[in-house]
Amino acid sequence: MPENAPENKAVAAAGAKGEAVLAKKPTRQYVCRACGAVHAKWAGQCDGCGEWNTLEEMPLEPLAASSVTSRVGGGRRVRLEELQGQVQPPPRVRSGIAELDRVLGGGFVPASVVLVGGDPGIGKSTLLLQAASQLAGQGERVLYISGEEAVDQIRLRAQRLGVAQARLELAASINVADIIATLDAEPDVRAVVIDSIQTMWLETVESAPGTVSQVRACAFELIRAAKRRGFSLVLVGHVTKEGALAGPRVLEHMVDAVMYFEGDRGHQFRILRAAKNRYGATDEIGVFAMTDRGLEEVSNPSALFLAERRGNIAGSAVFAGLEGTRPVLLEVQALLAPKGGDGAPRRAVVGWDTGRLAMLLAVLETRCGLKLSGMDVYLNVAGGLKVAEPAADLAVAAALVSAATGVPTNSGEVYFGEVGLSGEIRQVAQADARLKEAAKLGFTQAVLPRRIARGNARTRPPEGLGLRELGHISDLISPEAEAD
Ligand code: TYD
Ligand code: MG
Repeated sequence: MPENAPENKAVAAAGAKGEAVLAKKPTRQYVCRACGAVHAKWAGQCDGCGEWNTLEEMPLEPLAASSVTSRVGGGRRVRLEELQGQVQPPPRVRSGIAELDRVLGGGFVPASVVLVGGDPGIGKSTLLLQAASQLAGQGERVLYISGEEAVDQIRLRAQRLGVAQARLELAASINVADIIATLDAEPDVRAVVIDSIQTMWLETVESAPGTVSQVRACAFELIRAAKRRGFSLVLVGHVTKEGALAGPRVLEHMVDAVMYFEGDRGHQFRILRAAKNRYGATDEIGVFAMTDRGLEEVSNPSALFLAERRGNIAGSAVFAGLEGTRPVLLEVQALLAPKGGDGAPRRAVVGWDTGRLAMLLAVLETRCGLKLSGMDVYLNVAGGLKVAEPAADLAVAAALVSAATGVPTNSGEVYFGEVGLSGEIRQVAQADARLKEAAKLGFTQAVLPRRIARGNARTRPPEGLGLRELGHISDLISPEAEAD
């Protein structure tokens, strides 16, 4: 995600033009509550993210700051260091929730700030109350500060989650000055959860809680306290669709790590995904299931995602995918229906990219003669996961072909491979990891890209797993054509 590119541009432009810009003295700027894009003029719609009525007027801080720095003297020289030197990996405080620690890159880093964003009601407070209790259970001093719930409500939730014994310290407050005074008086606190940053309030900032100015100012003060005192800070931020509150995106550039807690409220699965991580990889996911006793870790997501799969139904195929370093098997479902009405046919996609579906449909129609342009197409990645890998092309194509022909795919088969515009099946990364996961879950055959050179030895497939190698997408329709 761009780290507030428009704002950086504005600063750079102001710096380049120097006094000329200052002479005109623009004093306001307009910041989008949803995406944080900065605009010079007010507009009804943000051209950064397309949301309506999300621009909020703010004093123009970058210019004010530069006009100050051009006047002040008396700064001290900073120490310049060589690039080469001994580097220690950052110390980690493990939460004890393996799925969370994985996404964090091994645990919380002292003096670092993690922003956990997500839709209201998705389970952020639940996750963090569980994590904070676990940490406290290891003998660390952990503070959970809620601006949304009273202490009794948090106690009740803790009872329900079965963590009421933890020596977690609670506070209900929205006043950042009070919170920082408390933290200054408790120097041995190791971790602090602020739930949520949109409820926090600084007296010195004029606007109401939840506005971009308040949210940024409160986060800034809390982050400074974390860096000064060395505790790990977790900020909860609601993703807001209505644009009434400033969303977590206006804070992304200020924090060390950004994770989004996603999922469909109708499903049990919750996925924690890192969008930014200064101390770890951003392609890891943590998988949880929301139960009546809180969030449970799902260490074998494939089994969960495939649990409700029914065999022998046309339009379904299993994709052997990768999420970060982890192989995950998913069911792709396609449904075709004769186009209704005069307009363009419907293309409805859940969990995959619409543009990519359009491309695959065109390839299937042009290269395989499959008539799909007169059909409405519905595509669904079961379980609520969002797939971004091109490697899913082959599974999607198999689901579409199966839906179009009415012939179910073999229920013991998994698919992976990228499809090119001429219909060729292209290699994808980490075939071995995908094959291993498929074998582990009892699949008997993998449909995958053909080896480029026949002589090249592929590492042997896992025991019990046959390979069906495809060179062209038309091999999906006429399997006998693949023999050469
Ligand atoms: P919550 O953590 O309050 O969401 P957020 O902080 O992201 O707004 O979770 C709220 C939902 O989770 C609520 O609809 C009820 C559900 N839930 C469970 O299903 N089981 C539980 O044990 C708990 C605590 C909540
Ligand atoms: Mg909450």
